[in-house]
Amino acid sequence: MLEVKGLDAGYGSHQVLWNVSLRVADGDIVALLGPNGSGKSSLMNSISRLVDRFAGTIVFDGVALHELPAYRLPRTGLSHVLERHRLFPQMTVLENLQLGAGPGAPRAKIARGLEKAYGLFPRLRERGRQMAGSMSGGEQQMCAIARGLMSEPRLLLVDEPFIGLSPHMREEVEAALHRINSEGVAILLIEQNVAVSLAMSHRAYILRDGRVVLEGMSSELAVGDAVQQAFLGRLDLSKPA
Ligand SMILES: Nc1ncnc2c1ncn2[C@@H]1O[C@H](COP(=O)(O)OP(=O)(O)OP(=O)(O)O)[C@@H](O)[C@H]1O
Ligand SMILES: [Mg+2]
Repeated sequence: MLEVKGLDAGYGSHQVLWNVSLRVADGDIVALLGPNGSGKSSLMNSISRLVDRFAGTIVFDGVALHELPAYRLPRTGLSHVLERHRLFPQMTVLENLQLGAGPGAPRAKIARGLEKAYGLFPRLRERGRQMAGSMSGGEQQMCAIARGLMSEPRLLLVDEPFIGLSPHMREEVEAALHRINSEGVAILLIEQNVAVSLAMSHRAYILRDGRVVLEGMSSELAVGDAVQQAFLGRLDLSKPA
């Protein structure tokens, strides 16, 4: 479904990703792990065309995303929930959700999206007229995920959805992500907590200093200490032994 190959990317002339390859298959939850500053957000942002690509290809459902202008992205079936949710704080919850459906979206699509959003997060229905910026962190995260679903994506990119959430909110958001996935939406997830990410995902990639140093089935990575070694920089499978 998504295939990134040999991606080099960065900011201006400052390269932060080196030869990154990654796949997300239909219906998968794939976790991106790695220490702070290892390039997780930059990778996700390169996929959604917010960060400059220097080399490599990004293909989603047969469409070469790297050749598309960024504004065409919402129509490809890919949606990105940015780090720290990035809602429009001075707009209402409802307005934020409506915007997520994309410019000129038909009313029927908006209505469908809202029903789905309220089904996942019932409290958003009650908060429709509230300014998004005045909601709690957890409610804002729910709103951001719901907004990301309004375009009816087949792949959702989610950058650290649990950051700053109470354990209860965390559970709610985690359950919602599983439900979204069970309804056929693949998810690429960034989450700092190794145990949580591996438990939630089918496959995982570990980044370090802008390179993929380890990848595999999450259930296999969860046993043994390869992930820990990769974090510590003692394991680099991208280089021959
Ligand atoms: N807008 C930017 N301009 C220049 N460099 C940037 C920019 N954003 C990120 N970087 C650099 O890119 C590298 C990777 O950062 P990135 O945010 O992708 O890491 P991350 O793995 O998401 O980290 P964290 O876990 O802290 O969110 C870092 O060295 C960072 O300083
Ligand atoms: Mg990040």
